Amino acid sequence: MIPLEDPTTLSLLFHLNSEPWLNDEAYQGSAMNQELKVPENIIGEVPLPRPGGSALMDLLAHRRSYREFAQKEMPLEHASALLASGYGAIARPRFGGQTPFLRRTVPSAGGLFPLELYLFTQRVQGLDDGLYHYDVIAHSLQQLRRENLFLTLEPMFYAYPFMKDANVVIAMAAVFLRTQVKYGPRGYRYILLEAGHVAQNVCLRAMELGLETLCMGGFLDSALNALVGLRLKDEGVVYTVAAGFASQPEKP
Ligand SMILES: Cc1cc2nc3c(=O)[nH]c(=O)nc-3n(C[C@H](O)[C@H](O)[C@H](O)COP(=O)(O)O)c2cc1C
Repeated sequence: MIPLEDPTTLSLLFHLNSEPWLNDEAYQGSAMNQELKVPENIIGEVPLPRPGGSALMDLLAHRRSYREFAQKEMPLEHASALLASGYGAIARPRFGGQTPFLRRTVPSAGGLFPLELYLFTQRVQGLDDGLYHYDVIAHSLQQLRRENLFLTLEPMFYAYPFMKDANVVIAMAAVFLRTQVKYGPRGYRYILLEAGHVAQNVCLRAMELGLETLCMGGFLDSALNALVGLRLKDEGVVYTVAAGFASQPEKP
């Protein structure tokens, strides 16, 4: 039995045992099979007013997953903007005790912000190809590797290395205990939800900048975690987003 007060063992068991499910039959079979629920107990239906247009609705209307990035250079400002929108601070940090209290672009259960962003780069102006960690307080990049790692990354997205020509791959790594020390096993859910918030911000900001994105959950955890240099069991990449330029203009 896992003791009630153990915050992480249960979720870690799941996390470490949910590497990509190499079930080809399931993978092929479910292609584009969308289901919609019609509740059995409907007692009426209310037509809604047409949704109004807005800059945000325009962005949402154009959001798409993109899988054929162009081999183009990306301005450093674009990479900066993606990180700032995804998980940046939106107010100057207030320091209480030893750690700063930051407000960020996403909500976070308990304000604990369990994620750390890592950036794989290639063809970003003014930046060595390599791997960086996002320092949210300084809004800067801490360089971890100085070599193009995209060829190493490709097989980690196994059969589908759609990110190969993207300029950046943002890897969101959770420091599990940050959230789970307060919320226990349920905190694992909060961490995943929070990664979704970050990803959507990145995607929408990318659209504003004329970039394309691909959110990717299908990666080989153990290989990617090792490449990023994470502490086994304490940390893990939970979600990744590739961003870059379209190789084809958007079809009307
Ligand atoms: C949690 C999550 C994980 C995903 N993982 C992958 C992935 O590993 N590889 C990929 O090509 N697309 C991935 N996608 C993108 C979906 O395939 C895509 O969003 C879906 O087909 C709908 O298409 P659209 O984004 O163009 O609207 C993922 C999307 C989500 C939300």
